[in-house]
Amino acid sequence: MDTQQEISLLEKEVGSLLFTEAEIKAKVEELGRTITQDFKHIATTEKPLIIVGVLKGVLIFLADLMRELDLPVELYFVDVSSGGNQVGGRRYSELSTRMGEAIQDRHVLFVEDIVDEGLTLSYITRMLWQKNPTSVSVCTLLSKEAKRIMDIDIRYIGFHIDPVYVIGYGLDYKEQFRNLRYISVLKADEE
Ligand code: PRP
Repeated sequence: MDTQQEISLLEKEVGSLLFTEAEIKAKVEELGRTITQDFKHIATTEKPLIIVGVLKGVLIFLADLMRELDLPVELYFVDVSSGGNQVGGRRYSELSTRMGEAIQDRHVLFVEDIVDEGLTLSYITRMLWQKNPTSVSVCTLLSKEAKRIMDIDIRYIGFHIDPVYVIGYGLDYKEQFRNLRYISVLKADEE
């Protein structure tokens, strides 16, 4: 895509700015400090904190958050699959055998970019608990409480947002805009 095409696509789809790059950075650093504090006497090199993310939206937040954790950590992903179980219109792969074994008797931090209805979170945490972890804590950058249909417990929340469609910093619209450094409302959702 040339620069002109890129600009017109951005103008067409990107609505009002919700969080700047600096605001996101400050929030990620704050979350990182809090999580480090909470797990510093728990996570060890023998038993690192297990971090689990669901692809793909969490990728950017997770990459930044991990680097704010002054703790031993191990990283695993749950992928979207064409098979697997259907949850709210998506299908997720089963947890890999290696991941299942790694979780046993360990503290797990499940990280999300956004919790909307809560279906994904509810489903994945249930799958994680089946592997007998010591604990499962949840961290999400964004939380849309107004859309929630599941009763779920989120330990760490970056920002509470209104029920609008948001893009950027990993979040997509038709698979695009994940690479924006900021978070905006999708223009179509403002009209
Ligand atoms: C988003 C987000 C969460 C899920 C939350 O993923 O990353 O995993 O939706 O929605 P829920 O609370 O209503 O279940 P999405 O399906 O957009 O896929 P992506 O991460 O690949 O963009």
